[in-house]
Amino acid sequence: MSAADKESLKLEWLYQEIILDHYKRPRNFGTIDNADLVAEEENPYCGDHIAVHIKTDGEKIADIRFSGKGCAISQASASMMTEKVKGMGLEEALKFAEDFRKMMRGEKPFPPEGELEDLDALRGVREFPIRIKCATLAWDLLQRSLVQILSPKDGGELR
Ligand code: FES
Repeated sequence: MSAADKESLKLEWLYQEIILDHYKRPRNFGTIDNADLVAEEENPYCGDHIAVHIKTDGEKIADIRFSGKGCAISQASASMMTEKVKGMGLEEALKFAEDFRKMMRGEKPFPPEGELEDLDALRGVREFPIRIKCATLAWDLLQRSLVQILSPKDGGELR
């Protein structure tokens, strides 16, 4: 096995560990009593669902939590999503959600390895088209919620 192959196997193993860690110890799991918005979505392929609770201070995502059930990829992606966008400006978080969904669908390249931190672990999911929805479920919800918060008249349509 070449050094490059060994390196790529090591990376694959590390990424699996990161996904499992978020699945077993989800960050920001739960609900927010006085949330500004609660949105829910179901993966039509499997029936799994996620709810996202968002509290803003008018400019930033002050708090965000998720609940529901699903496969390791969907739960890990939701957990990573809450960690990534908590404290982020609303417009910035919306842009990031749009970009991340495009990256997962192969419509936009991933930035260099390491830049997305734990989210890098989801890169490999693109090779399994049926699982892409698992990885984007929470992000679809986030994008739709932020569109509703920022421009309620658009009704949260996904782009
Ligand atoms: Fe249901 Fe992944 S298999 S969300």
